[in-house]
Amino acid sequence: MANKLWEKNVRVNADVERYTIGRDAEMDMYLAPYDVLGSMAHATMLETIGLLTPDDRDAILSGLKSIYARVQAGEFEIEPGVEDVHSQVEMDLGAVGKKLHSGRSRNDQVLIDLKLFTRAKLREVVEAVLRLFHTLQEQSERNKDVLIPGYTHLQIAMPSSFGLWFGAYAESLVDDMQLLLSAYKVANRNPLGSAAGYGNSFPLNRQLTTDLLGFDSMDYNVVYAQMGRGKTERIVASAVGSVAATVSKLAFDACLYNSQNFGFLKLAPEYTTGSSIMPHKKNPDVFELTRAKCNKIQAIQQEITLITNNLPSGYFRDLQIIKESYLPMFDQMIDVLNMVENMISKITVNEHVLDDPKYAPIFSVEEVNRRTLAGTPFRDAYKQVGLEIEAGQFEPVKEVHHTHEGSIGNLCNDRIAALMESVVAGFPFDKVDAAERQLLGR
Ligand code: ARG
Repeated sequence: MANKLWEKNVRVNADVERYTIGRDAEMDMYLAPYDVLGSMAHATMLETIGLLTPDDRDAILSGLKSIYARVQAGEFEIEPGVEDVHSQVEMDLGAVGKKLHSGRSRNDQVLIDLKLFTRAKLREVVEAVLRLFHTLQEQSERNKDVLIPGYTHLQIAMPSSFGLWFGAYAESLVDDMQLLLSAYKVANRNPLGSAAGYGNSFPLNRQLTTDLLGFDSMDYNVVYAQMGRGKTERIVASAVGSVAATVSKLAFDACLYNSQNFGFLKLAPEYTTGSSIMPHKKNPDVFELTRAKCNKIQAIQQEITLITNNLPSGYFRDLQIIKESYLPMFDQMIDVLNMVENMISKITVNEHVLDDPKYAPIFSVEEVNRRTLAGTPFRDAYKQVGLEIEAGQFEPVKEVHHTHEGSIGNLCNDRIAALMESVVAGFPFDKVDAAERQLLGR
């Protein structure tokens, strides 16, 4: 039997109820702790404008704290027939809960839940990205002298190195981190008080809930605050998608380099899988699944774009569906990042790749440059070496002297680390922690 906040004298059709509630019982569990936090800020504010007595406020806050504890202990549940987490929390508060909803709507409630959830989960993504970043940088430093061919068009091109290869993906994560920071800043604004999307006639103190929850600022315009539903998720999914794109490319390279035809690196045997028919197999399934999972994550921003694209302003139930792909995305990304970090830390590299004579032509540019430095015009030197290669007379000197920034001999890993640090310093985690701790009375 349904138990709804809004049911008055007509019982809603059971099929309609099932259809409209959809997967909210499962999805809203992600939001439960944040629903409680948002309500704590709201109740605290309501007392300051005379809409709750101090006693009612205290009763509500202590009820919310015990719900929070039950959520943390895994004991909170959305009962069958209860429409969503917002309804469940209000019902769990008992009689005093009836006073809590003054001046808000489930529309700004779900908005605040999503913002708080996003802040917390983005932080976990940031931490997982940092772990992978450091491991990539370590591998880059450890293997900075190990040369491999670089490719253009998947044709051998010029000397590269494991220092460059690992280090490139570390630097890619710096730019992804920049996007995560922007996404975090978009999420770190308070929509509470926008109610159904048009504010209301109570003299709400929105600055107070903004401060209590440690937000940078509020989403001021109440219509825009509601327009942020879907938009915030799309921006965040796009930033997380950028991390996924980096990891997916890394995974493909690793599969390729691990193949016998390349033989550049070896995955730790316990990190490979076997075949039911071919006894020799050690397959890179982890990187293959990583690729697919990362591609799926990158699709989430497209999905959100499609769901929101042709909606006018104002709340629509369409927005509920976004939760189904958005909320689980963070744990999926973190799982991938942790797995890949583990894989990368266990990779061993082949230090003798370039001993194979088939790679000799990659030193052609080194030879052209040597002759250019000795006084031959570049275009003439280029032609001489080209003709020697064609005639099978090219004997490469297998030495590389790359000294400029970011090249084989001068990776600049320390400067890349400093870039990463400066981006990460932009996340206001301490301020957010302090606000949430204070609200929870810890
Ligand atoms: N489950 C709903 C959602 O995720 C909560 C908001 C309901 N609001 C409404 N006007 N029906 O969007």
